[in-house]
Amino acid sequence: MTGTQTYIQENKEKFLEELLALLRIPSVSADPAYASDVRKTADFVAEKLTAAGADNVKLYETAGYPIVYGDKLIDPNLPTILVYGHYDVQPPDPIELWDSPPFEPVIKQTKLHPEGAIFARGACDDKGQAYMHVKAFEAMMANGDLPCNVKFMIEGEEEVGSDNLGIFCKEYAEMLACDVVLLSDTSVIANDVPSITVGLRGLSYVEVEVVGPNKDLHSGVYGGAVGNPVNIICEMIASMKDENKHITIPGFYDDVVTVSDADRAKMNEAPFDLSEYKDALSIDEIQGEKGYSVLELTSIRPTLDVNGIWGGYIGEGAKTVLPSKANAKISMRLVPNQDPEKITKLFQEHFESIAPASVKVTVTPHHGGMPAVTPTDTVEYRAASLAMKETYGKEPIPQRSGGSIPIVALFEEVFGVKSVMLGFGLDSDDIHSPNEHYGLFNYYKGIETIPYFYKYYAELKTK
Ligand code: BES
Ligand code: MN
Ligand code: MN
Repeated sequence: MTGTQTYIQENKEKFLEELLALLRIPSVSADPAYASDVRKTADFVAEKLTAAGADNVKLYETAGYPIVYGDKLIDPNLPTILVYGHYDVQPPDPIELWDSPPFEPVIKQTKLHPEGAIFARGACDDKGQAYMHVKAFEAMMANGDLPCNVKFMIEGEEEVGSDNLGIFCKEYAEMLACDVVLLSDTSVIANDVPSITVGLRGLSYVEVEVVGPNKDLHSGVYGGAVGNPVNIICEMIASMKDENKHITIPGFYDDVVTVSDADRAKMNEAPFDLSEYKDALSIDEIQGEKGYSVLELTSIRPTLDVNGIWGGYIGEGAKTVLPSKANAKISMRLVPNQDPEKITKLFQEHFESIAPASVKVTVTPHHGGMPAVTPTDTVEYRAASLAMKETYGKEPIPQRSGGSIPIVALFEEVFGVKSVMLGFGLDSDDIHSPNEHYGLFNYYKGIETIPYFYKYYAELKTK
Protein backbone atom coordinates (compact mmCIF):
# COMPACT_ATOMS: atom_id res chain seq x y z
CA MET A 1 0.00 0.00 0.00
CA THR A 2 2.97 2.39 0.28
CA GLY A 3 3.03 3.04 -3.48
CA THR A 4 -0.68 3.80 -3.38
CA GLN A 5 -0.25 6.17 -0.44
CA THR A 6 2.68 7.93 -2.12
CA TYR A 7 0.63 8.34 -5.29
CA ILE A 8 -2.15 9.96 -3.22
CA GLN A 9 0.29 12.41 -1.58
CA GLU A 10 1.79 13.31 -4.96
CA ASN A 11 -1.58 13.89 -6.63
CA LYS A 12 -3.40 15.91 -3.99
CA GLU A 13 -3.60 19.04 -6.15
CA LYS A 14 -4.98 17.14 -9.13
CA PHE A 15 -7.53 15.30 -6.95
CA LEU A 16 -8.73 18.62 -5.61
CA GLU A 17 -8.95 20.33 -9.01
CA GLU A 18 -11.04 17.49 -10.35
CA LEU A 19 -13.45 17.61 -7.43
CA LEU A 20 -13.85 21.36 -7.89
CA ALA A 21 -14.71 20.76 -11.56
CA LEU A 22 -17.30 18.17 -10.53
CA LEU A 23 -18.81 20.61 -8.02
CA ARG A 24 -19.21 23.28 -10.71
CA ILE A 25 -21.86 21.19 -12.49
CA PRO A 26 -25.20 21.87 -10.76
CA SER A 27 -26.69 18.37 -10.54
CA VAL A 28 -29.90 19.17 -8.68
CA SER A 29 -32.10 16.12 -9.15
CA ALA A 30 -35.27 17.59 -7.64
CA ASP A 31 -35.59 20.44 -10.15
CA PRO A 32 -36.15 19.62 -13.85
CA ALA A 33 -34.52 22.94 -14.78
CA TYR A 34 -31.14 21.29 -14.06
CA ALA A 35 -31.81 18.14 -16.13
CA SER A 36 -29.04 18.65 -18.68
CA ASP A 37 -26.51 19.44 -15.93
CA VAL A 38 -27.44 16.30 -14.02
CA ARG A 39 -26.68 14.30 -17.17
CA LYS A 40 -23.40 16.17 -17.68
CA THR A 41 -22.42 15.14 -14.17
CA ALA A 42 -23.06 11.48 -14.99
CA ASP A 43 -20.82 11.86 -18.07
CA PHE A 44 -18.11 13.46 -15.94
CA VAL A 45 -18.15 10.62 -13.42
CA ALA A 46 -18.10 7.99 -16.17
CA GLU A 47 -15.17 9.67 -17.88
CA LYS A 48 -13.17 9.81 -14.64
CA LEU A 49 -13.91 6.18 -13.84
CA THR A 50 -12.57 5.18 -17.24
CA ALA A 51 -9.49 7.35 -16.78
CA ALA A 52 -8.89 5.74 -13.38
CA GLY A 53 -8.77 2.32 -15.02
CA ALA A 54 -12.31 0.91 -14.75
CA ASP A 55 -13.69 -1.45 -17.38
CA ASN A 56 -17.22 -1.73 -18.75
CA VAL A 57 -17.98 1.89 -17.89
CA LYS A 58 -21.48 2.68 -19.00
CA LEU A 59 -24.42 4.94 -18.23
CA TYR A 60 -27.47 2.82 -17.57
CA GLU A 61 -30.55 4.80 -18.50
CA THR A 62 -33.53 4.73 -16.17
CA ALA A 63 -36.93 6.42 -16.14
CA GLY A 64 -35.05 9.28 -14.43
CA TYR A 65 -31.33 9.99 -14.36
CA PRO A 66 -28.69 7.49 -15.48
CA ILE A 67 -26.72 5.23 -13.17
CA VAL A 68 -22.96 5.22 -13.75
CA TYR A 69 -21.51 1.73 -13.67
CA GLY A 70 -17.92 0.57 -14.07
CA ASP A 71 -15.85 -2.32 -12.72
CA LYS A 72 -12.47 -3.95 -12.39
CA LEU A 73 -12.73 -7.68 -12.01
CA ILE A 74 -9.28 -9.08 -11.46
CA ASP A 75 -9.81 -12.52 -9.97
CA PRO A 76 -13.00 -14.51 -9.28
CA ASN A 77 -11.34 -15.97 -6.18
CA LEU A 78 -11.07 -12.57 -4.57
CA PRO A 79 -13.98 -10.81 -2.87
CA THR A 80 -15.93 -8.13 -4.70
CA ILE A 81 -16.71 -4.68 -3.32
CA LEU A 82 -19.66 -2.75 -4.75
CA VAL A 83 -19.04 0.96 -4.27
CA TYR A 84 -22.19 3.07 -4.05
CA GLY A 85 -22.47 6.84 -4.17
CA HIS A 86 -24.67 9.60 -5.58
CA TYR A 87 -23.74 12.39 -7.95
CA ASP A 88 -26.97 14.36 -7.52
CA VAL A 89 -27.29 17.14 -4.95
CA GLN A 90 -29.99 18.97 -3.02
CA PRO A 91 -31.38 22.25 -4.38
CA PRO A 92 -29.23 25.19 -3.21
CA ASP A 93 -32.16 27.26 -1.92
CA PRO A 94 -32.33 29.64 -0.15
CA ILE A 95 -29.57 30.92 -2.39
CA GLU A 96 -29.37 34.35 -0.74
CA LEU A 97 -28.07 32.74 2.45
CA TRP A 98 -24.90 31.42 0.76
CA ASP A 99 -21.73 33.43 1.38
CA SER A 100 -20.45 32.37 -2.05
CA PRO A 101 -22.34 30.95 -5.06
CA PRO A 102 -23.26 27.27 -4.46
CA PHE A 103 -21.81 26.03 -7.74
CA GLU A 104 -18.62 28.10 -7.66
CA PRO A 105 -16.56 26.22 -5.09
CA VAL A 106 -14.20 28.19 -2.86
CA ILE A 107 -11.84 27.04 -0.12
CA LYS A 108 -12.05 28.71 3.26
CA GLN A 109 -10.89 27.91 6.75
CA THR A 110 -13.38 27.27 9.53
CA LYS A 111 -13.03 26.53 13.21
CA LEU A 112 -13.48 22.81 12.64
CA HIS A 113 -11.56 22.82 9.36
CA PRO A 114 -8.33 24.74 9.99
CA GLU A 115 -6.78 23.08 6.90
CA GLY A 116 -9.57 24.56 4.78
CA ALA A 117 -12.91 23.33 3.51
CA ILE A 118 -14.51 23.37 0.06
CA PHE A 119 -17.74 25.36 0.06
CA ALA A 120 -20.21 24.20 -2.58
CA ARG A 121 -23.50 22.34 -2.82
CA GLY A 122 -22.68 18.64 -2.89
CA ALA A 123 -19.14 19.14 -1.52
CA CYS A 124 -19.86 16.68 1.29
CA ASP A 125 -23.19 15.16 0.21
CA ASP A 126 -22.18 13.32 -1.80
CA LYS A 127 -19.90 14.41 -4.65
CA GLY A 128 -16.84 14.91 -2.47
CA GLN A 129 -17.36 11.62 -0.67
CA ALA A 130 -18.25 9.60 -3.78
CA TYR A 131 -15.29 11.03 -5.67
CA MET A 132 -12.88 9.87 -2.94
CA HIS A 133 -13.65 6.33 -4.11
CA VAL A 134 -12.78 7.10 -7.72
CA LYS A 135 -9.47 8.62 -6.64
CA ALA A 136 -8.63 5.83 -4.20
CA PHE A 137 -9.29 3.37 -7.02
CA GLU A 138 -7.09 5.39 -9.37
CA ALA A 139 -4.27 5.30 -6.82
CA MET A 140 -4.53 1.54 -6.35
CA MET A 141 -4.66 0.97 -10.11
CA ALA A 142 -1.70 3.23 -10.78
CA ASN A 143 0.35 1.06 -8.44
CA GLY A 144 -0.92 -2.32 -9.56
CA ASP A 145 -2.14 -2.68 -6.02
CA LEU A 146 -5.86 -3.47 -6.27
CA PRO A 147 -6.47 -6.13 -3.58
CA CYS A 148 -9.96 -7.24 -4.71
CA ASN A 149 -12.59 -6.90 -7.38
CA VAL A 150 -14.58 -3.70 -7.48
CA LYS A 151 -17.80 -2.51 -9.07
CA PHE A 152 -18.97 1.10 -9.03
CA MET A 153 -22.60 2.17 -9.02
CA ILE A 154 -23.05 5.92 -8.75
CA GLU A 155 -26.62 7.15 -9.04
CA GLY A 156 -28.25 10.51 -9.74
CA GLU A 157 -31.48 10.28 -7.77
CA GLU A 158 -30.58 9.68 -4.14
CA GLU A 159 -31.94 13.03 -3.02
CA VAL A 160 -35.30 12.23 -4.59
CA GLY A 161 -35.74 8.74 -3.20
CA SER A 162 -33.65 6.35 -5.38
CA ASP A 163 -36.76 4.76 -6.89
CA ASN A 164 -35.06 3.94 -10.18
CA LEU A 165 -31.96 2.58 -8.49
CA GLY A 166 -34.13 0.06 -6.68
CA ILE A 167 -35.51 -1.14 -10.02
CA PHE A 168 -31.99 -1.22 -11.51
CA CYS A 169 -30.59 -3.29 -8.63
CA LYS A 170 -33.29 -5.90 -9.06
CA GLU A 171 -32.93 -6.03 -12.85
CA TYR A 172 -29.12 -6.22 -12.81
CA ALA A 173 -28.71 -8.21 -9.60
CA GLU A 174 -26.40 -10.65 -11.38
CA MET A 175 -24.11 -7.99 -12.81
CA LEU A 176 -24.01 -6.27 -9.42
CA ALA A 177 -23.35 -9.43 -7.37
CA CYS A 178 -20.87 -8.60 -4.61
CA ASP A 179 -19.68 -9.52 -1.13
CA VAL A 180 -20.17 -6.12 0.45
CA VAL A 181 -21.45 -2.64 -0.43
CA LEU A 182 -19.10 0.20 0.48
CA LEU A 183 -20.35 3.77 0.65
CA SER A 184 -19.26 7.14 1.99
CA ASP A 185 -22.35 9.26 2.53
CA THR A 186 -22.36 9.71 6.32
CA SER A 187 -20.24 11.41 8.98
CA VAL A 188 -17.48 10.85 11.51
CA ILE A 189 -17.93 12.18 15.04
CA ALA A 190 -14.98 14.58 14.68
CA ASN A 191 -11.72 14.74 12.80
CA ASP A 192 -9.91 13.36 15.84
CA VAL A 193 -12.75 10.97 16.77
CA PRO A 194 -13.20 8.53 13.90
CA SER A 195 -16.43 6.56 13.75
CA ILE A 196 -18.25 4.13 11.51
CA THR A 197 -21.96 4.46 10.87
CA VAL A 198 -23.80 1.32 11.91
CA GLY A 199 -27.37 2.55 11.70
CA LEU A 200 -29.59 4.80 9.62
CA ARG A 201 -33.08 5.98 10.33
CA GLY A 202 -35.95 5.20 8.00
CA LEU A 203 -38.33 7.78 6.61
CA SER A 204 -42.00 8.33 6.05
CA TYR A 205 -42.85 11.57 4.28
CA VAL A 206 -46.32 12.98 3.71
CA GLU A 207 -47.94 16.12 2.43
CA VAL A 208 -51.19 17.26 3.97
CA GLU A 209 -53.85 19.66 2.78
CA VAL A 210 -56.55 21.20 4.95
CA VAL A 211 -59.38 22.85 3.05
CA GLY A 212 -62.04 25.08 4.58
CA PRO A 213 -64.29 27.56 2.74
CA ASN A 214 -64.39 27.46 -1.08
CA LYS A 215 -62.47 30.76 -1.38
CA ASP A 216 -60.37 33.16 0.67
CA LEU A 217 -62.73 35.22 2.83
CA HIS A 218 -62.75 38.61 4.58
CA SER A 219 -61.40 37.77 8.04
CA GLY A 220 -63.68 40.37 9.66
CA VAL A 221 -66.89 39.52 7.91
CA TYR A 222 -66.47 35.73 8.31
CA GLY A 223 -63.81 35.40 11.02
CA GLY A 224 -65.08 33.74 14.18
CA ALA A 225 -67.66 31.53 12.56
CA VAL A 226 -65.76 29.82 9.76
CA GLY A 227 -62.99 27.33 10.50
CA ASN A 228 -59.62 28.78 9.49
CA PRO A 229 -57.53 26.06 7.76
CA VAL A 230 -54.23 27.64 8.84
CA ASN A 231 -55.29 27.75 12.50
CA ILE A 232 -56.62 24.22 12.20
CA ILE A 233 -53.54 22.72 10.54
CA CYS A 234 -51.42 24.21 13.34
CA GLU A 235 -53.71 22.76 16.02
CA MET A 236 -53.72 19.37 14.33
CA ILE A 237 -49.95 19.25 14.01
CA ALA A 238 -49.41 20.50 17.55
CA SER A 239 -51.69 17.80 18.90
CA MET A 240 -49.50 15.10 17.43
CA LYS A 241 -47.01 15.47 20.32
CA ASP A 242 -47.84 15.43 24.02
CA GLU A 243 -46.18 17.44 26.79
CA ASN A 244 -43.28 14.96 26.88
CA LYS A 245 -42.78 15.30 23.11
CA HIS A 246 -44.06 11.80 22.66
CA ILE A 247 -45.80 11.32 19.31
CA THR A 248 -49.52 10.73 19.84
CA ILE A 249 -50.41 8.83 16.67
CA PRO A 250 -51.95 5.57 17.95
CA GLY A 251 -49.65 2.61 17.24
CA PHE A 252 -46.72 4.82 16.20
CA TYR A 253 -44.28 3.23 18.66
CA ASP A 254 -45.65 -0.32 18.48
CA ASP A 255 -42.81 -1.76 16.41
CA VAL A 256 -39.95 0.35 17.80
CA VAL A 257 -37.11 -1.89 18.94
CA THR A 258 -36.11 -0.95 22.48
CA VAL A 259 -32.38 -0.42 22.80
CA SER A 260 -30.95 -2.06 25.94
CA ASP A 261 -29.72 0.10 28.81
CA ALA A 262 -26.22 -1.26 28.25
CA ASP A 263 -26.26 -0.24 24.58
CA ARG A 264 -27.65 3.16 25.47
CA ALA A 265 -24.92 3.69 28.02
CA LYS A 266 -22.29 2.76 25.44
CA MET A 267 -23.86 5.08 22.89
CA ASN A 268 -23.66 7.95 25.35
CA GLU A 269 -19.94 7.42 25.87
CA ALA A 270 -19.35 9.01 22.45
CA PRO A 271 -17.90 12.49 22.93
CA PHE A 272 -20.60 15.14 22.85
CA ASP A 273 -20.59 18.68 24.18
CA LEU A 274 -24.09 20.06 24.70
CA SER A 275 -23.06 23.68 25.08
CA GLU A 276 -20.98 23.58 21.89
CA TYR A 277 -23.94 21.96 20.14
CA LYS A 278 -26.29 24.74 21.26
CA ASP A 279 -23.76 27.47 20.47
CA ALA A 280 -23.22 26.20 16.95
CA LEU A 281 -26.97 26.40 16.30
CA SER A 282 -27.58 29.61 18.29
CA ILE A 283 -30.23 27.93 20.42
CA ASP A 284 -30.59 28.40 24.17
CA GLU A 285 -32.09 25.03 24.88
CA ILE A 286 -32.69 21.74 23.15
CA GLN A 287 -36.06 20.02 23.19
CA GLY A 288 -37.11 16.46 22.62
CA GLU A 289 -38.72 13.34 23.92
CA LYS A 290 -38.32 13.20 27.66
CA GLY A 291 -35.69 10.86 29.04
CA TYR A 292 -33.30 10.71 26.08
CA SER A 293 -29.97 12.37 25.35
CA VAL A 294 -29.31 14.36 22.16
CA LEU A 295 -27.31 11.45 20.75
CA GLU A 296 -30.25 9.13 21.37
CA LEU A 297 -32.88 11.57 20.16
CA THR A 298 -31.05 11.88 16.84
CA SER A 299 -30.42 8.19 16.28
CA ILE A 300 -32.52 5.60 18.12
CA ARG A 301 -35.77 7.54 18.54
CA PRO A 302 -38.31 8.33 15.83
CA THR A 303 -39.41 11.89 15.02
CA LEU A 304 -42.23 13.89 13.50
CA ASP A 305 -41.25 17.24 11.99
CA VAL A 306 -42.87 19.82 9.74
CA ASN A 307 -40.50 20.50 6.84
CA GLY A 308 -42.57 23.26 5.30
CA ILE A 309 -45.94 24.87 5.91
CA TRP A 310 -47.86 27.41 3.91
CA GLY A 311 -51.24 29.02 3.41
CA GLY A 312 -52.89 32.42 3.52
CA TYR A 313 -51.33 35.79 2.84
CA ILE A 314 -47.54 36.03 3.08
CA GLY A 315 -46.90 39.12 0.94
CA GLU A 316 -45.91 42.63 2.04
CA GLY A 317 -47.93 44.38 4.72
CA ALA A 318 -51.19 43.12 6.16
CA LYS A 319 -54.06 41.64 4.21
CA THR A 320 -57.06 40.67 6.28
CA VAL A 321 -57.99 37.29 4.94
CA LEU A 322 -59.32 33.99 6.18
CA PRO A 323 -57.56 31.51 3.89
CA SER A 324 -59.38 28.79 2.05
CA LYS A 325 -56.65 26.19 2.58
CA ALA A 326 -53.38 25.29 4.24
CA ASN A 327 -50.66 22.76 3.47
CA ALA A 328 -47.70 21.16 5.16
CA LYS A 329 -44.94 18.70 4.36
CA ILE A 330 -44.19 16.39 7.26
CA SER A 331 -41.38 13.89 7.74
CA MET A 332 -41.19 11.10 10.25
CA ARG A 333 -37.76 9.57 10.85
CA LEU A 334 -38.13 5.94 11.76
CA VAL A 335 -36.03 3.47 13.70
CA PRO A 336 -35.71 -0.31 13.51
CA ASN A 337 -38.34 -2.12 13.16
CA GLN A 338 -40.79 0.57 12.06
CA ASP A 339 -42.19 0.09 8.58
CA PRO A 340 -42.57 3.29 6.52
CA GLU A 341 -45.71 2.13 4.73
CA LYS A 342 -47.39 1.15 7.96
CA ILE A 343 -46.41 4.44 9.62
CA THR A 344 -47.70 6.45 6.66
CA LYS A 345 -51.02 4.62 6.93
CA LEU A 346 -51.21 5.23 10.71
CA PHE A 347 -50.47 8.91 10.12
CA GLN A 348 -53.14 9.17 7.44
CA GLU A 349 -55.83 7.50 9.53
CA HIS A 350 -54.96 9.61 12.54
CA PHE A 351 -54.79 12.89 10.64
CA GLU A 352 -58.19 12.23 9.09
CA SER A 353 -59.66 11.23 12.44
CA ILE A 354 -58.61 14.41 14.24
CA ALA A 355 -59.83 16.80 11.54
CA PRO A 356 -62.71 18.95 12.77
CA ALA A 357 -65.93 18.84 10.72
CA SER A 358 -65.33 22.40 9.51
CA VAL A 359 -62.52 21.29 7.13
CA LYS A 360 -61.69 18.50 4.70
CA VAL A 361 -58.22 16.98 4.75
CA THR A 362 -56.13 14.97 2.33
CA VAL A 363 -52.86 13.17 3.02
CA THR A 364 -50.54 12.40 0.10
CA PRO A 365 -47.63 10.05 0.77
CA HIS A 366 -44.20 10.81 -0.73
CA HIS A 367 -41.16 8.54 -0.89
CA GLY A 368 -40.16 6.67 2.22
CA GLY A 369 -37.35 4.41 3.25
CA MET A 370 -36.52 1.57 5.59
CA PRO A 371 -34.19 2.03 8.55
CA ALA A 372 -30.98 0.00 8.60
CA VAL A 373 -28.59 -1.37 11.20
CA THR A 374 -25.35 -3.19 10.58
CA PRO A 375 -23.70 -5.47 13.12
CA THR A 376 -20.12 -4.89 14.29
CA ASP A 377 -19.11 -8.54 14.66
CA THR A 378 -18.51 -9.04 10.95
CA VAL A 379 -15.43 -9.09 8.74
CA GLU A 380 -16.92 -6.13 6.89
CA TYR A 381 -16.98 -3.98 10.02
CA ARG A 382 -13.60 -5.23 11.19
CA ALA A 383 -11.98 -4.36 7.87
CA ALA A 384 -13.43 -0.86 8.06
CA SER A 385 -12.31 -0.50 11.65
CA LEU A 386 -8.74 -1.59 10.85
CA ALA A 387 -8.62 0.77 7.88
CA MET A 388 -9.58 3.76 10.00
CA LYS A 389 -7.24 2.75 12.76
CA GLU A 390 -4.44 2.73 10.21
CA THR A 391 -5.06 6.29 9.00
CA TYR A 392 -6.43 7.98 12.14
CA GLY A 393 -4.17 6.21 14.58
CA LYS A 394 -7.12 5.23 16.76
CA GLU A 395 -9.92 2.77 16.67
CA PRO A 396 -13.21 4.15 15.34
CA ILE A 397 -16.41 4.19 17.42
CA PRO A 398 -19.51 2.51 15.98
CA GLN A 399 -22.27 5.10 15.75
CA ARG A 400 -25.88 5.21 14.62
CA SER A 401 -26.79 8.15 12.44
CA GLY A 402 -30.03 10.10 12.30
CA GLY A 403 -30.11 10.49 8.51
CA SER A 404 -31.59 8.12 5.96
CA ILE A 405 -30.22 6.34 2.92
CA PRO A 406 -33.22 4.24 1.95
CA ILE A 407 -31.36 2.19 -0.64
CA VAL A 408 -29.13 0.60 2.01
CA ALA A 409 -31.96 -1.63 3.28
CA LEU A 410 -32.67 -2.64 -0.30
CA PHE A 411 -29.03 -3.66 -0.89
CA GLU A 412 -29.37 -6.18 1.87
CA GLU A 413 -32.68 -7.43 0.51
CA VAL A 414 -31.60 -7.74 -3.13
CA PHE A 415 -27.89 -8.63 -2.89
CA GLY A 416 -28.03 -10.33 0.50
CA VAL A 417 -24.97 -8.41 1.67
CA LYS A 418 -24.14 -5.87 4.37
CA SER A 419 -23.22 -2.27 3.68
CA VAL A 420 -20.20 -0.60 5.21
CA MET A 421 -20.92 3.07 5.80
CA LEU A 422 -17.47 4.58 5.82
CA GLY A 423 -18.39 8.26 5.88
CA PHE A 424 -15.93 11.12 6.36
CA GLY A 425 -18.11 14.24 6.63
CA LEU A 426 -18.88 16.13 9.82
CA ASP A 427 -22.47 16.60 10.99
CA SER A 428 -21.70 20.32 11.05
CA ASP A 429 -20.77 20.42 7.33
CA ASP A 430 -24.16 21.95 6.52
CA ILE A 431 -25.36 19.34 4.06
CA HIS A 432 -28.76 20.34 2.60
CA SER A 433 -28.19 23.82 4.13
CA PRO A 434 -26.66 27.02 2.76
CA ASN A 435 -22.83 26.99 2.79
CA GLU A 436 -22.42 23.23 2.59
CA HIS A 437 -18.74 22.38 2.86
CA TYR A 438 -16.31 19.48 3.06
CA GLY A 439 -12.97 19.58 4.80
CA LEU A 440 -9.81 19.04 2.78
CA PHE A 441 -8.58 16.94 5.69
CA ASN A 442 -11.70 14.78 5.34
CA TYR A 443 -11.43 14.48 1.56
CA TYR A 444 -7.81 13.30 1.67
CA LYS A 445 -8.32 11.15 4.75
CA GLY A 446 -11.09 9.35 2.91
CA ILE A 447 -8.91 8.74 -0.13
CA GLU A 448 -6.14 7.42 2.12
CA THR A 449 -8.42 5.17 4.18
CA ILE A 450 -10.39 3.49 1.37
CA PRO A 451 -7.45 1.45 -0.04
CA TYR A 452 -6.84 0.03 3.44
CA PHE A 453 -10.44 -1.15 3.56
CA TYR A 454 -9.84 -3.03 0.30
CA LYS A 455 -6.63 -4.48 1.71
CA TYR A 456 -8.05 -5.64 5.05
CA TYR A 457 -11.26 -6.87 3.48
CA ALA A 458 -9.34 -9.03 0.99
CA GLU A 459 -7.26 -10.40 3.88
CA LEU A 460 -10.14 -11.10 6.24
CA LYS A 461 -12.72 -12.34 3.79
CA THR A 462 -12.02 -15.90 2.80
CA LYS A 463 -14.19 -16.97 -0.05
N1 BES B 1 -26.21 11.47 2.83
C1 BES B 1 -27.53 11.76 3.27
C2 BES B 1 -27.95 10.96 4.47
C3 BES B 1 -27.11 11.11 5.71
C4 BES B 1 -26.56 12.34 6.05
C5 BES B 1 -26.89 10.04 6.51
C6 BES B 1 -25.78 12.46 7.19
C7 BES B 1 -26.13 10.16 7.65
C8 BES B 1 -25.56 11.38 7.99
C9 BES B 1 -28.49 11.51 2.12
O1 BES B 1 -28.05 12.11 0.92
C10 BES B 1 -29.81 12.16 2.43
O2 BES B 1 -29.86 13.36 2.47
N2 BES B 1 -30.87 11.37 2.62
C11 BES B 1 -32.17 11.90 2.79
C12 BES B 1 -33.21 10.88 2.46
C13 BES B 1 -33.69 10.88 1.03
C14 BES B 1 -34.85 9.94 0.87
C15 BES B 1 -34.00 12.22 0.48
C16 BES B 1 -32.39 12.34 4.21
O3 BES B 1 -31.81 11.75 5.15
O4 BES B 1 -33.14 13.29 4.39
MN1 MN C 1 -26.06 11.69 0.55
MN1 MN D 1 -28.57 14.29 1.03
